[in-house]
Amino acid sequence: MNEKVLLHFQDTSADLTDIEQYLGEGGYEATRKALTEYEPDGLVNLVKESNLRGRGGAGFPTGLKWSFVPKDTGKPVYLLCNADESEPGTFKDREIIEHDPHQLLEGIIIAAYAIRCEIAYIYIRGEMALGYKVLVKAIADARNKGFLGKNVFGTQLSIDIHVHRGAGAYICGEETGLIESLEGKRAYPRIKPPFPAVYGVFGCPTIVNNVETLACVKHIIERGSDWFKSIGPEGGPGPKLYCVSGHVRKPGVYEAPMGTPLRDLIDRYAGGMLPGRTLKAVIPGGSSVPILRAEETAINMDFDSVAKAGSMLGSAGIIVMDNTTCMVRALRTITHFYHHESCGQCTPCREGTGWLEKLLIRIDSGVGTDEDLKVLDSVAQGMMGTTICVLADAAAMPVRSFLAKFADEFEAHVRGEDCRADAVHRRVA
Ligand SMILES: Cc1cc2nc3c(=O)[nH]c(=O)nc-3n(C[C@H](O)[C@H](O)[C@H](O)COP(=O)(O)O)c2cc1C
Ligand code: SF4
Repeated sequence: MNEKVLLHFQDTSADLTDIEQYLGEGGYEATRKALTEYEPDGLVNLVKESNLRGRGGAGFPTGLKWSFVPKDTGKPVYLLCNADESEPGTFKDREIIEHDPHQLLEGIIIAAYAIRCEIAYIYIRGEMALGYKVLVKAIADARNKGFLGKNVFGTQLSIDIHVHRGAGAYICGEETGLIESLEGKRAYPRIKPPFPAVYGVFGCPTIVNNVETLACVKHIIERGSDWFKSIGPEGGPGPKLYCVSGHVRKPGVYEAPMGTPLRDLIDRYAGGMLPGRTLKAVIPGGSSVPILRAEETAINMDFDSVAKAGSMLGSAGIIVMDNTTCMVRALRTITHFYHHESCGQCTPCREGTGWLEKLLIRIDSGVGTDEDLKVLDSVAQGMMGTTICVLADAAAMPVRSFLAKFADEFEAHVRGEDCRADAVHRRVA
């Protein structure tokens, strides 16, 4: 795949936030085709055939998820586009929203038609002020053209989109937390089942999909499921946005085929390591997934390959760490985030994230003990699989993997030895 599909705006001089210029690039033809040439079930089948897997983190098959919406319940069906994007290391959805919003609107209109939904919401992270403005304008422009509202594209269908701003909590990105928040409540995740496809927002069948997932949909209609499947591994193919951050020369969002080698993304796309530095470790899928040591990074970046290597593709937030990184300090920072963001409903998460952070502060500050290391691991272990949502697992997995893979550094810290990172490292209380 040489062309940019999802980041097409980088390859054209057109301003794709301007609907006239977007139309000049063939915009909205895929949506017209979907709404006038397909039955809803035909679209669900096409997306199933494409093997599109959700880009929000879990990689759930999109067409299959859509097929779970019960028919004839007499209730309205809702589509929620998850634009909360708060996982540390992840900053791809905002690129789509800010530079190519109509691509996303097309995906939403097509998905809404496929699941027989008339009202869709985009739940956007509160801090994304520019993205919000861009979306509101794009929706108004699409409405004026007859692409949203009543009788879209001259059909009998009504489809509209509203934008809802979050207020800056990571947990609002968890699909049932998002649903509660959209209903005007505190974003407390719900116990599943029932899953949102059956009982979602306002008690109605609801599909929650990530921005990038929905952006892929228009291209599947335009070019077909075989084209999509031809990009990367058949079990989870397609164009993919990778966010590369950390100690590289050119951090940024890069589009490459699903399954692109991780080392290519670091060395070729992101320009390699900073001058004079060497690779120490990589978190491949956002801060919540297990870390890989440098020697474990010869892997392809797709769902199955990263899982085989003992980590997860997650949100494809690749955080690169070089030889100057103190793993104790890095883990302390990550753990602070999850402690701050726990919604507090479940005891293992509310108390566990607090204990993880307390223990890491002790160890990082030079007053930790061997016993603290054991307790750290056992607290993390006790948090996994015991809570309403997987934020607790997201907090525990980095702890367990850092401890397992960089045991020597943690042990050096509790023994009061110099930090093993190749940098002047100041311990802070
Ligand atoms: C704590 C937590 C935070 C999440 N944050 C996001 C997010 O910001 N954006 C997102 O798309 N999915 C996020 N997810 C995943 C969503 O719950 C959901 O699986 C996803 O939006 C489904 O979309 P997809 O099927 O298109 O991947 C989060 C999950 C958890 C547990
Ligand atoms: S696991 Fe944590 S964030 Fe998720 S519902 Fe329980 S307390 Fe809230």
